[in-house]
Amino acid sequence: MAEPTRERKPWSGRFTGGPSPAAEGFTASLGFDRRLWPYDLEGSRAWARALRGAGLLTEAELTLLLTGLDEVGQELAAGSFPFRPELEDIHMNIERRLQEKVGAVAGKLHTGRSRNDQIALDERLYLREVIRRLDTSLRETQSALIARAEEHLGAPMPGYTHLQRAQPILLSHHLLAYVFMLQRDRERLRDCFARVNVLPLGAGALAGTAFAIDREALTRELGFFAPAPNSVDAVSDRDFLVEFLAAAAILGMHLSRLASDLILWATAEFGFVEFPEAFATGSSIMPQKKNPDVAELIRGKTGRLYGNLTAVLTAMKGLPLAYNSDMQEDKEPLFDSADTLEAILTVLPPLLRSLTFNLERMREAAGAHFATATDLADYLVHKGVPFREAHEVAGRVVKHCVTADKSLAACSLPELKRFSALFEADVFKAITVEASLRARAVTGGTAPEAVGQALAQAKALVAEGRG
Ligand code: ARG
Repeated sequence: MAEPTRERKPWSGRFTGGPSPAAEGFTASLGFDRRLWPYDLEGSRAWARALRGAGLLTEAELTLLLTGLDEVGQELAAGSFPFRPELEDIHMNIERRLQEKVGAVAGKLHTGRSRNDQIALDERLYLREVIRRLDTSLRETQSALIARAEEHLGAPMPGYTHLQRAQPILLSHHLLAYVFMLQRDRERLRDCFARVNVLPLGAGALAGTAFAIDREALTRELGFFAPAPNSVDAVSDRDFLVEFLAAAAILGMHLSRLASDLILWATAEFGFVEFPEAFATGSSIMPQKKNPDVAELIRGKTGRLYGNLTAVLTAMKGLPLAYNSDMQEDKEPLFDSADTLEAILTVLPPLLRSLTFNLERMREAAGAHFATATDLADYLVHKGVPFREAHEVAGRVVKHCVTADKSLAACSLPELKRFSALFEADVFKAITVEASLRARAVTGGTAPEAVGQALAQAKALVAEGRG
């Protein structure tokens, strides 16, 4: 027979004995849900007012409860709150402490409420703040990228496909690619916010509360867009949270690719970028090493963002309606994804601002390895040659140059004319890095003018979200 614990359970009426300490420890969520206390208090204050509105509390009782909740909040903020793990979760810890402060009236606070709608509320209030903060950090990351793009506007680098040199692009164009990716991440989070910002309170355990609670007033008071229209749905679904985890995973994917680019560029083989000492580490054995650990960890932490999404999707799969304790497993993945992103987005903007780009080396690489072979073919297209044929001719020129170990520009005109009589002296102007860049003046292309426009567009997007 298990030892009865010191604390009476809120369900003690139905029970004769206490729980097994093993079961008690196993089911407790206090270790991780305690951080929800500010939201739990916010929800309880609003619920107390709603109970007053429904005539279930006198004005004096409401005042007593609100004062008590404030005192509990002060203890929590000061770190002096006596947490009791045997009370399972943060909700019951707060309620018990309130009772110690204000007496029996504390027992009225849970009227018509369940921990099922309470936890859904806490999570939504928490996530609202997380999403707002992430938007700010994402904007800061975008700003850092934009600043570097603006600083180096006009500097060419090789663009890659299959990690093989493909065509010259502007460094700014490459950096702005990430700005637009992060913009879509911001949009995804904003979309998600609309579904997070719905009031579950009033759903009770699952069937709705049996008291005359004004859910519209609660919605306004807590700043939600609308009350959840179905009480069963309100306590049993977590799609708002899964959506956040999915948006977090996609964002992680983007950040990991940016990190990967930087790691690659920092190798001796590339030599495009140098990490500042403040964002690099050395080796405990190899004295010459300077490792891009910060970027590697940004890439590595993406694994947990994917894992958290998979964990909650899997925990939720096939659960019969309405609430099930399986859903308690949603919290650690949620907190972990939010914390991971906040950590990454704290370190990334200063890292980006302090990188040194080796523009000379990038420019050199941009023109090497026949990077403008497409422009050689395009030259013939402008003279009426079908592209497939022009591609074939340019390919043969490249093969000749590879054999002769020379660049396209090092060929003489008569040499080129052996491949097509249409080549004239102006071809050499068409196959420079600058001409290749300038030619791609299409909207969204890498021509300096087009990139200048994209830069302005990116700046506007970042400014828009401010406020
Ligand atoms: N700790 C629970 C959770 O995180 C709160 C809701 C508990 N409800 C219940 N009926 N056991 O989901």
